[in-house]
Amino acid sequence: MPLVRVPATTANLGPGFDTLGMALNLFDELIIEESSSPEIIITGEGEGTIPRGQENIAYRAARAVFTKVGRPPVPLKLEMHNSIPVARGLGSSAAALVAAIVGTNAILGEPLSPAELVNLATTLEGHPDNVAPAILGGLVASARDGEQVICRRLELPPGLVTVVAIPQFTLSTRVSRGVLPARVALEDAVFNISRVALLLAAVATGDLELMGRMMVDKLHQPYRLPLVPGMAEVFAAAREAGALAVTLSGSGPTVIAFCRGRQPEVGPAMAAAFARKGVKCTVKELAPCNHGAVVI
Ligand code: HSE
Repeated sequence: MPLVRVPATTANLGPGFDTLGMALNLFDELIIEESSSPEIIITGEGEGTIPRGQENIAYRAARAVFTKVGRPPVPLKLEMHNSIPVARGLGSSAAALVAAIVGTNAILGEPLSPAELVNLATTLEGHPDNVAPAILGGLVASARDGEQVICRRLELPPGLVTVVAIPQFTLSTRVSRGVLPARVALEDAVFNISRVALLLAAVATGDLELMGRMMVDKLHQPYRLPLVPGMAEVFAAAREAGALAVTLSGSGPTVIAFCRGRQPEVGPAMAAAFARKGVKCTVKELAPCNHGAVVI
């Protein structure tokens, strides 16, 4: 019976809305096996709140693999041990569905290639920027091209450390996408395109300074400010404490700072800025993770 270990992910990295994502050293685990009747057990994050019926995101993802490969679905037992906080912008739903897809693919003798896993996971998630790094690890750039997702993975530069400030409140991706405009100004699009291009060049050449400078955005973060009390102040506090860059992690509410090596002042500064706005948060230092989902 496969045990799948899947990393948390931070999407967008500032300018790369729905395009860039990076795996982080925080993991959910799933044990998946055929069973006489469907069963879902959840411990850790989301225990007591994640649905345990067949509407469960991981269960539906596992069924989707059977359909995709033309095999009749069988009842499954899913045992999930979660460390990734739910609905905080750290890719918990992507991790759940990737774990289920990768685990089911293992049970069936690996009929799906990594590229097919990314395609299926993207169809289920709606965007590729969390699922692609959850499967491939590292920093992944993705583009939807018709039915296909084209993605390329880059190793993360050594010395990069992230600090996440995870608010106690949840924010669903649906709500956080709901505040975004249907159209954006050409100058804002150009601002982001140019930053993404240089951000990838910075990653490829290991230039942490340039990487940090390019992690800015005009397409989604400004519209999401009202959803995360204290966001602007937390950004300022992290930069003042020495972070190279600070962004909303995915659709929030977690704020993620990118640092050259360990910067012990950054986490407390972010927590204090949130606290001044009445937001309690947990701070974690997370290294980037250069591997994606693994079957043990
Ligand atoms: N790119 C997505 C968004 C990530 O920002 O809505 C969601 O985790």
